[in-house]
Amino acid sequence: MATAEKTPRFTHPAARGTCPFAPPPAYDQARQEEPVSRVTLWDGSTSWLVTRHEDVKAVLSDARFSSDSTRPGYPFISAGARQLNTGRPTIIRMDAPEHTHFRRMLTGEFMIKKVEALRPEIQRIADDLLDRMTDGRSGADLVHEFALPLPSLVICLLLGVPYQDHDFFQECSRVLLRRDSAAEDVADAQAKLVDYLIGLTETKRTHPDDGILSRLVERGELSTQQIGDMGRLLLIAGHETTANMTALSVLALLRNPDQLAHLREHPESVPGAVEELLRYLTIVHSGVTRVATEDVDLGDVRIAAGEGVICMVNTANRDEREFPDGDELDLTRDARRHLAFGFGAHQCLGQPLARLELQIALATILRRLPGLRLTVPFEEVRFRGEMLIYGVHELPIAW
Ligand code: HEM
Repeated sequence: MATAEKTPRFTHPAARGTCPFAPPPAYDQARQEEPVSRVTLWDGSTSWLVTRHEDVKAVLSDARFSSDSTRPGYPFISAGARQLNTGRPTIIRMDAPEHTHFRRMLTGEFMIKKVEALRPEIQRIADDLLDRMTDGRSGADLVHEFALPLPSLVICLLLGVPYQDHDFFQECSRVLLRRDSAAEDVADAQAKLVDYLIGLTETKRTHPDDGILSRLVERGELSTQQIGDMGRLLLIAGHETTANMTALSVLALLRNPDQLAHLREHPESVPGAVEELLRYLTIVHSGVTRVATEDVDLGDVRIAAGEGVICMVNTANRDEREFPDGDELDLTRDARRHLAFGFGAHQCLGQPLARLELQIALATILRRLPGLRLTVPFEEVRFRGEMLIYGVHELPIAW
């Protein structure tokens, strides 16, 4: 049985190779040669790296692997990420029973039925944004004019946060999600964002509305501070992820013209295409982290209590044993077993919303921009390698 004495293979996160959509080659190699291996982190500490689909599922569904980032040994991928995850905990960094208790307060808000009722409103937002973007023009940056405002407007509506404050919270989230942000900058951005949400929550006590923050106030179970913390997680998770998936998906389709043509011919296949794009692009590219609370055997490896584990959902989503020709984007594939939303107790709470937004965004772009094309050489597109959530910084397009 192998243990932590194993030699680290490389420093995580490793650099990407030639294909900007593919995980860095070092991870694929690890999956083939040593699927549960050791890596070094930024501060010289080491962690386990899990790369296969079945092993990632096993870890994420096993309560012996904790999400509590205040436990010794928890793996952080940068100083900023450590600050982000050890400040004030949100549900994503809690274990049962606390996690179950807090998550239950939100599950009703993101149930498929409830989210599906938002379809006309999200469609209206998507159409309005494209009306504005295309009005008298032939080109624009899809990220700033469509991919980012769409989920931002939706999550603001759901939470009861004024969208006119988007410059402020989007700037905070840029600092929070940069891998190379200094710890003090992360602490500062986090404090500003929570203060803002606490102020907003106070207002809801006297001026309630139909948003999630107000409903949490009405439940009377949480302090204003706790509601502010929940709001912070939802506000950031609710717009950064979908925004990046939307823009990256459009770029991946432009790079795979046969797939784009297929989708244009079969618009009814957009929901399946979204699953394949989630698998192929897996924007949570630095992995999903846990720490072992007991000794656990995984394959031929013994993970000891107190050791960190990084689950590479992107490499798992290209595991040939689960997805043959996993490096190919194939929109006709049944990709529903992908792990882009994680797995187990912490599986993405907002996934029905993310799916609906992505389906509407892609279907509307395809319908309304028949001549969609990139206006810069592909090599000039700036990818978000330095961010915790992968994507592109801008996407200059014409139609
Ligand atoms: C959790 C991915 C969209 C809210 C997660 C996790 C992943 C993920 C991988 C699991 C983290 C872990 O196990 O440690 C994504 C992707 C999205 C997306 C790829 C879009 C394409 C959203 C949206 C919302 C949201 C739109 C909310 C409005 C959350 C929350 C959690 C979470 C609250 C924590 C759940 C818990 O710990 O119980 N997401 N997410 N996400 N996501 Fe998402």
